[in-house]
Amino acid sequence: MAKEYGHYDDAAREYVITDPCTPWPWINYLGTEDFFGLISNTAGGYSFCKDAKFRRITRYRYNGVPMDAGGRYFYIKDGDTVWNPGWKPCKTPLDFYECRHGMNYTSIEGRKDGVTAKVLFFVPLKTWAEVQKLTLTNTTDKTRKLKLFSFQEWCLWNASTDMENFQRNFSTGEVEIDGSVIYHKTEYKERRNHYAYYSVNVPVQGFDTDRESFLGLYNGFDAPQAVLEGKPRGSVAHGWSPIASHYLEIELKPGQSRDLIFVLGYVENAQDDKWESKGVINKRMARETLSRLDTSAKVDAEFKRLCQYWDNLLQIFSVKSADERLDRTVNIWNQYQCMITFCFSRSASFFESGIGRGMGFRDSNQDLIGFVHQIPERARERIIDIASTQFADGGCYHQYQPLTKRGNDGIGGGFNDDPMWLIFGVCGYLRETGDFSILDEPVPFDNVPGSEKSLFEHLTISFDHVVNNLGPHGLPLIGRADWNDCLNLNCFSNDPDESFQTTENKTEGSKAESLMIAGLFVFSGRDYVELCRQLGKNAEADRAQKHIDAMIAAVEKYGWDGNWFLRAYDYYGRKVGSHENEEGQIFIESNGWCTMAGIGLKEGLCDKALDSVKERLDSEHGIVLNNPAFTKYYIEYGEISSYPAGYKENAGIFCHNNPWVIIGETVRGNGKAAMEYWRKICPAYIKDQTLHKVEPYVYSQMVAGKDAFRPGEGKNSWLTGTAAWNWYTITQFILGIKPTYNGLVIDPCISPDMKDFTVTRKFRGATYEIEIKNPNGATHGIKSITVDGKEICGNLIPIAAEGSLVHVTAVLQ
Ligand code: GLC
Ligand code: GLC
Repeated sequence: MAKEYGHYDDAAREYVITDPCTPWPWINYLGTEDFFGLISNTAGGYSFCKDAKFRRITRYRYNGVPMDAGGRYFYIKDGDTVWNPGWKPCKTPLDFYECRHGMNYTSIEGRKDGVTAKVLFFVPLKTWAEVQKLTLTNTTDKTRKLKLFSFQEWCLWNASTDMENFQRNFSTGEVEIDGSVIYHKTEYKERRNHYAYYSVNVPVQGFDTDRESFLGLYNGFDAPQAVLEGKPRGSVAHGWSPIASHYLEIELKPGQSRDLIFVLGYVENAQDDKWESKGVINKRMARETLSRLDTSAKVDAEFKRLCQYWDNLLQIFSVKSADERLDRTVNIWNQYQCMITFCFSRSASFFESGIGRGMGFRDSNQDLIGFVHQIPERARERIIDIASTQFADGGCYHQYQPLTKRGNDGIGGGFNDDPMWLIFGVCGYLRETGDFSILDEPVPFDNVPGSEKSLFEHLTISFDHVVNNLGPHGLPLIGRADWNDCLNLNCFSNDPDESFQTTENKTEGSKAESLMIAGLFVFSGRDYVELCRQLGKNAEADRAQKHIDAMIAAVEKYGWDGNWFLRAYDYYGRKVGSHENEEGQIFIESNGWCTMAGIGLKEGLCDKALDSVKERLDSEHGIVLNNPAFTKYYIEYGEISSYPAGYKENAGIFCHNNPWVIIGETVRGNGKAAMEYWRKICPAYIKDQTLHKVEPYVYSQMVAGKDAFRPGEGKNSWLTGTAAWNWYTITQFILGIKPTYNGLVIDPCISPDMKDFTVTRKFRGATYEIEIKNPNGATHGIKSITVDGKEICGNLIPIAAEGSLVHVTAVLQ
């Protein structure tokens, strides 16, 4: 059996890491709104408020040596031994180590020579601060005297310039020290109205705020001079690198336990209320927060509130089946990951530095389907933010910055799949909530006041953006790229110093068309038609349907390669993803989307396409993106061919798009294949944690494909559309509980070995207990349904009165 570094504790909703030396830092996220932290299993990571780039509170060095250096460190000096509860940075061998990653909290416990140190890290709800509750316990029968040093390194707010503008940075750092609270106020005296602080709830015996004084210029985090000597310096930072370290002398009687509460917080003051007196920052709000968190009882109550918040979120959908891996994925980790991707989009993980991308237009729309059932109000707000960055012609800014909510000029627009995702996201929201009022919201274009049109009109122009941008075969022009950011058919880049994402986009006269957008247009276009009908806009529905029919005809005529759907036409109008090509003969995206849309289902096209996917793209660890992988650079294809074979968009297993094929399989009723594919990429089924490398409790964007050097190696964990897509797929298409405008449709498509299961689903204020019985090992097709004991016709469970409990029993064929 392969080595394991940890295990699940489902009852506690935790993943328990028992070996600190994981094959890669295994991280978790703290915070639910505004104040956030990333924390690794050895307490590495950083914190920020609202924006990981512009409001970075603590410093982190990505891609450092050794890996994952810098974080929330506690040094315990016990005689000559110095150790940390999370093993790092001193790496002193511990007698016991355990890290528990839970829902927005992490607890790390270390034991050395009879002393236990346990730290609980979390961000209380509605609070701009991270609590670190340290519990020290003496398990021996002797009195123990320990020296404790805390440590945080401040970031000079802008995480990007913090890493490069040293001629300035080394002169700007400023702090204030007030009792046990260390304030970081760099740049506060000029244009900033915010500061950070780090405190402990008892008097300290010393402190340091200057890194060089604390560490010693030539020492690492693993050997701070002040700690080694057991003597804080009382340093006050002026420029250079401000830090915050408390020094405490602790005496523990035999069996005694002691809690210390450290708080890392952030404050924004009004412009005219910045100062207490000249040069002294106004600390009122910091003190208010600290007074809410200054005893164990208060902190425990806050922690309980956070746990209750998660109880409520996770009650909305849960499954009970014979497979605990399926249950824990659906009930805990997939939902949790969806919430994290909602909060962070693609900004801050251990693979996303927090300074690059803001919120993606397409990404955020897809993320919506993963959390809309939990926090519909915030989904609503997100939709309006996203739609406000659309242009009047239906095109969209590809990204926007969370702090300003403005479209990102650096990358601009021109990704022709973007507009359709708005329809996808909004319809997902409407089916869940029934909140049609959102469609009347006035929403501007490019955030320009006065340009507002209703959200519904935004949907119409989104739909029409595809219709108005068709190529020579009547298929959608691809623009800069479609979902695959790396299939750059209009770039022709020969300059290694330019980005494929932003270089000139030679769309003028281009014949490059996308079959992926075609499938998306048919799939989500039908959503648009259905919505129009729901609203009684029948003429508009008829108009849209005609375009969809024309698209289907174009795909059947020009998008079919004989055994699968083509991927695209290139700039010159040549086929991409055809058996005629030398490499990249077949791609996952177009085959996923066209089968999801059921294009040519009756004529057998879907069957053929899915069989070809199985034959050419499937592998032990999942479905690869394309085959054969590109082995040289194709200037007419761009970035996709820049990756080595088997990685990322070049024949990697892009877990984000595997669900498209899985849904395609459910369209043809092949529950066996659907579940087999799903289990291959679902983290709960990972067989070899060492090979997989990244966290075994969340999906990664990419797993190395069959052509890679080490197939099965995961990368880019956490922030990926994979979370929402797998959630959508497992709940709506495999377990088959679909929210619709008029109720829940029950339509599972499962593996024949799957026995009975029960889903509890809260929907529009009522609770549905849905028991699915599978006496004959069927894969799909409902034989009968009873609702509260009465048999119904069809498989739509109508919306019940708010507050009611509805019992549904569905029997499969
Ligand atoms: C990344 C991007 C996403 C894109 C995908 C494929 O996951 O966030 O927008 O669709 O890569 O290139
Ligand atoms: C790179 C990545 C892709 C991502 C894009 C946008 O091209 O391969 O996954 O979507 O960057 O940042």
